[in-house]
Amino acid sequence: MQNIAAPAGSHRHPEGHIGNTPLPLPLDRALAHVDRVFGIDRILAQEGKDVVAPYYIQSELGYRRVHSGAGCMHMALCADGRFDRAGYLTQAEEVAHLIAETGARRVLELGSGMGFNSLHLAPQHPEAHFTGIDLLEHHVRKSARKAESMANLAFRQGSFMDLPPDLDGMDLAFAVETLCHASDLDTVARQIAQALAPGGRLLIYDGYRRPDFDTAPEAVRTAARLFEVTTAVSTGFRPIEDWCAALERAGLRVTETRDRTADTIACTRKLHRSALRFFTDWRFRLLRFVLPRHLVLNTVAGLMGPYMIEGATPGTGGMTGALLYGTITAENPR
Ligand SMILES: C[S@@+](CC[C@H](N)C(=O)[O-])C[C@H]1O[C@@H](n2cnc3c(N)ncnc32)[C@H](O)[C@@H]1O
Repeated sequence: MQNIAAPAGSHRHPEGHIGNTPLPLPLDRALAHVDRVFGIDRILAQEGKDVVAPYYIQSELGYRRVHSGAGCMHMALCADGRFDRAGYLTQAEEVAHLIAETGARRVLELGSGMGFNSLHLAPQHPEAHFTGIDLLEHHVRKSARKAESMANLAFRQGSFMDLPPDLDGMDLAFAVETLCHASDLDTVARQIAQALAPGGRLLIYDGYRRPDFDTAPEAVRTAARLFEVTTAVSTGFRPIEDWCAALERAGLRVTETRDRTADTIACTRKLHRSALRFFTDWRFRLLRFVLPRHLVLNTVAGLMGPYMIEGATPGTGGMTGALLYGTITAENPR
C-alpha cells in the first residue's frame, strides 16, 4: 500500500499551479469575518450533532446554484490546478476506468446524492447495472426522475450503515464524499465487505484529517473544524489510516491510497471566492435572514476551504493544512 501521509509542507506544486498563488485574505481575517457574522464558538458548539438530513435538505439550492449547477455534490478534481467544470466528472471517469479494467457488471454507488456520478456512468456502460443508494428520500426522488429512461440504473433510499441484503454480490462499490458522514467506521466497512462479491472492488473518494492534525496551527485546525461542522461531518473527518484499518478488519484488502489534495485546490478556491462575496458585501449577508441556516452556513465552509487544506498562508509554498483529500482502493479477497 502506498503511504499517503506526506509530511506537512513537503507538497510542492508545479509552476503555474494555482496553489502557488497567494490568497488575498489571510486566515486570521477570514476567521474574524466568520466570528463577526456567525460567532465561531456558536458554530463549533454544534460539533457532534447529527444534522445530515436537515443539512442536505436545506443546502439543495446551494448545491444546485452555487456549487456545480448540475446536481453534483462533490469537489471538482483539477489536476493542473486550474478550475474546469470537467473536473466534477473526474471521480466518475475514474470509476468508469475501473469498470472497464475489471469488467464489473453490478455496480453500487454509496451516498449517490442527486445521482450525478451514476447518471453519467450508466449510459456509458449498458452492459452493467448500477444501483445508487442514498439516505435521503428527497435525493432519491430527484435522481430517480432523471434515470427514468435508463433501464440499467436504479436509485433507492437506504443507509450505508445498514445495506439491504439484496445488494450483496456487487462487483464494484464506490463512494464519493459520503462516508465522511459515517458515525461508526467498522459498521460501514462490514456492510461494504458483505455487499462485495469475491474479488469485488471498492473505490472511496473523501476528505480525511491529516495524521498530524493535532499539531497543525490552532487557526488551521479551527478552519478545518468549521468546515466539518458546516458540512454536517459532525464527528469530524477521520484519518485515512483509520478507514484503511476498519476496511482491513472487515476482511477487505486495501490495495492503494492516493493523496489527491492538490487536485482540489482550484475548486476550493473557486468556492472561497463565492463565499467571500457574502462576507464582504452587506447585500449578500442580508440573505441570512431569509435563507435556511444550514444553507447560509455553507458560506463558512466555502470561506475556510483553502486554509483547511493549504494552511494559514495559501500560496506561499507547500501545503500545511489539517485535512487531505484522498482515494482508497480495496478489494474483497474472499
Ligand atoms: C456530499 S454528498 C455527495 C453525493 C454524491 N456522492 C455526489 O458525488 O454528488 C453526500 C451524500 O451522502 C448521503 N448520505 C449521508 N449519510 C448517508 C448514509 N448513512 N447512507 C447513505 N447516504 C448517506 C447524503 O444524503 C448526500 O446525498
